[in-house]
Amino acid sequence: MSIVDQTREGDVLVLTINNPPVNAFSPGVPEGLHAGLDAAESAGEVRAVVIIGGGRTFIAGADIKTFDLPREQAPDLRGFISRLDAFPKPTVAAIHGTALGGGLEVALACTYRVAVKDAQMGLPEVKLGVLPGAGGTQRLPRVVGVQKALEMMLSGNPIKATEAKDLGLVDDLVEGDLRSGAVEFARAHADARPLPRVSERTVTDAVPQVFGAARQGILKTHRGQLSPSLIVDLAEMSATQPFAVGWDSEARLFMQAKDSPQSRGLRHIFFAEREAGKVPGLTKDTPTTDVRQVGIIGAGTMGGGIAMNFLNAGLPVTIVETAQEALDRGLSVIRRNYENTAKKGRLTVEQVEQRMGLLTPTLNVEDLADADLIIEAVFENMDVKKDIFTRLDAVAKPGAILATNTSTLDVNEIASVTGRPEQVIGLHFFSPANVMKLLEIVRADKTSDSVLATCLALARKIKKVGVVVGVCDGFVGNRMIHRYGDEARKLVEEGARPQDADATMHALGLPMGPFEMSDMAGLDIGYAIRAHQAKVRGEPKPDGWLDRIVETGRKGQKTGGGIYDYDEKRRPSPNADVQKLIEDHRAEKGIRPREIGQEELTERLVYSLVNEGAKILEEGIAQRAGDIDVIYIYGYGFPAYRGGPMGYADEVGLKNVAAALEKHGQTPAPLLKQLAEEGGTFAAWDRQKGRG
Ligand code: 3HC
Repeated sequence: MSIVDQTREGDVLVLTINNPPVNAFSPGVPEGLHAGLDAAESAGEVRAVVIIGGGRTFIAGADIKTFDLPREQAPDLRGFISRLDAFPKPTVAAIHGTALGGGLEVALACTYRVAVKDAQMGLPEVKLGVLPGAGGTQRLPRVVGVQKALEMMLSGNPIKATEAKDLGLVDDLVEGDLRSGAVEFARAHADARPLPRVSERTVTDAVPQVFGAARQGILKTHRGQLSPSLIVDLAEMSATQPFAVGWDSEARLFMQAKDSPQSRGLRHIFFAEREAGKVPGLTKDTPTTDVRQVGIIGAGTMGGGIAMNFLNAGLPVTIVETAQEALDRGLSVIRRNYENTAKKGRLTVEQVEQRMGLLTPTLNVEDLADADLIIEAVFENMDVKKDIFTRLDAVAKPGAILATNTSTLDVNEIASVTGRPEQVIGLHFFSPANVMKLLEIVRADKTSDSVLATCLALARKIKKVGVVVGVCDGFVGNRMIHRYGDEARKLVEEGARPQDADATMHALGLPMGPFEMSDMAGLDIGYAIRAHQAKVRGEPKPDGWLDRIVETGRKGQKTGGGIYDYDEKRRPSPNADVQKLIEDHRAEKGIRPREIGQEELTERLVYSLVNEGAKILEEGIAQRAGDIDVIYIYGYGFPAYRGGPMGYADEVGLKNVAAALEKHGQTPAPLLKQLAEEGGTFAAWDRQKGRG
C-alpha cells in the first residue's frame, strides 16, 4: 500500500489516499496524487478519476504539523488544487468521515462530489487562527452562496452530507459502498463537456449588507482575532472580483494569518488538547471498567450539574441527599435547566423526560450499592468527606470507582479512610458543571492505572476535556488562580483600581478579570480559604482590603454586590464605599498609592500564573505545560488564541518573562529561570520530555 494507491476500475482510475490517522495533506500526498493525475492523463482509456480516502475518512485538511516548515518544504496543496481545477477529465471526490479544510478544498476543485450520508464537511481553519488557504474562500461561496459560506467559515463547524446535498455542495449521496457508488457516478458523468468547474461560477446571493453584518457579528464572536476579518474580506472578494484575484489574495492573507501569534497559539492548543488525554505508562491495553451506573452524593449546584453530564450521555444516575427538601430542590433545578434548553429548541420535550427518567433520587446511601462510579460533591470539609468515603467504602460494590469533586483538599487523605485507595480518584468539575468543558482528573498516590484510564475514557464520553493532575492544594487550576488573586489584590493595595485590573484582562481577551471573577464565585469563598490558611500557619486573621469588604456583608453577585455593584443585567459598576474602604486601608498601612500602567498590570497578573505554572511543572503536578494551557482555556476562559498562559509566555519569550518578574520583585521559579537562561520554551520542554 502506498501513500496514494492507483487502481483501475475499467475506464475509471481510483486514487486512494492512505495517510492515517486522518489522511491529512502531508508530505508525499501531493506527489502521490500528481502521479495519479499523470497516469490518468496519459492513459487514453481512463475517462474519469475518483479521489477517495483509505481508512476512516476523506482528507481532514492540510497537515497542521507542517505549518512551521519553510514554504519550499511544505506540501504544495495549492499547486495540486490548481492542477485539479484545470484537469481535462472529470474528477469525483468520494467523501466519507470528514472532508475538512484542505480536504474540502480538494473536493471543491474536483468536478463532482459524492458522499455517504453520515459524512461531514467544513472549513474549520478559523479555529486554528487561519483561513481556508487553498481556494475555499473563493469556491465555497460560489457553490453554497456567500451567506452560508460565511456562516461555515466563521463558525468553523462542519455540516452533514445531507445538508450539503440540499445546498448543492454534494452532487449525490451514495447508499452502500462509497467506492463503487463513486466509480459508477464517475462513469455516468465521464462524457460531460464542458466540465462544470466551480471556479467558473459566480456568487449569486451577495448583497452588501451581508458583509457589514458579518463584520459586526465577529466583533462579538471573535473579539480581538485576526483571521475572521480576513475571511470576511475574502468572501466579499469572491462576490466582487474574478476568481483569480480572490485566489491570489487568499494565498497572501493565509500566510499573514498563519504567521501570526494568534495562529501559533491556536495550533499549540489544538495539539495540547489531544496530548492532554495521554498519560505516560497508560496504553491502549490498560484495562478499563465499563461505567453503566453512576451515583452522586449531593444534589446542590455541583452535584446537580455533574449529574446532568451523565444523563446527557444516557447513563442512569442515582443522586443522594440528606434531606428530602434538598433533594426536591436539586431535582427541580435539573428539570428547570433541561426545560430551559428545550425552550431554546435544543432539546425536545421527550428528551427532557427521557433524561429525567434516568435520574433516581434517594435519601439512602445504600442505594448506591450497584453504582460503577460514585462521585461525592458535598461542601469542602475534610471531616465530612472522610465520613462519606468511610460509608461509601462499606456500601459500594467491589471495583466501584470512588471519586471526590473536591477543588482543593488532599485526595490521598480522603482515600486513606477506605480499604481501597487504588479505586479512589479526584474528578474536579468546574461550575457550571453541565457547561464547562474542563475536568481535572486528580491522580492520587495509589490510584490504579485502570481507574485513571476509565476516567479518561469517561471524560470523552461525557464530552469533557479530561486533564490528569497530581495532588496538591488547589491542583493545577485553583492553585494558579490563587496566586493570580493574591497578585491582583496586591496591585490594588499598591494603587490600581479593581476595574483597571479587570480591564487589562479584557484587553487580553479574557471574558472576566480577577475581581469580576471573584464577585461571581462569591467573595466569601476566598475569604474562608485565606482564613483557613492563616490558621494553619498560626498567623492572625487576614485583614486585607478585600477581607474588609467581605466583612461588610458584600460577598459578590449573590448578595447583590461585592467589589462592584451590579445592575439587573449583571453589569458591574464601581462602588464608592468600596473605593473608600480601599483608600482607608492603604492610608492605615502607610501605602502611598501609585499609578500602575497596563503593562505592569498585564505582566504581574499573567506572569504570576506562569510562574506558579512553572513550579507545578517542576513538581510534576501537571505533566506538560500544554496541559496547564488546556486547563486555563477550558476552566478559566483564557483565550485559546493567546495559547494559554504558558503558550503566551513562550510567545513573549521566557527571558522577558523572567526579567519582568524580577523587575516586579518576584523570584522566577527555577524551571522558568533555567529555560530563560537556555533560551528555551515550555513547548520545547514538553517535547524534550516526550510529552508534547
Ligand atoms: N494535521 C495533522 N494532524 C492531524 C490533523 C491535521 N489536519 N487532524 C488531526 N490530526 C491528528 C491529531 O493530532 C491526532 O494525532 P494523535 O493521535 O497523534 O494525537 C490524530 O490526528 C487524530 O485526531 P483526533 O484525536 O482529533 O481524532 P478524532 O477522530 O477525534 O477527530 C478530526 C478527527 C475531526 C479530523 C479532528 O482531528 C480534526 O478536527 N482535525 C483538524 C481538522 C482541521 O482543522 N483541518 C483543517 C486544517 S488547516 C487547512 O486545511 C488549511 C488549508 O485551508 C490550506
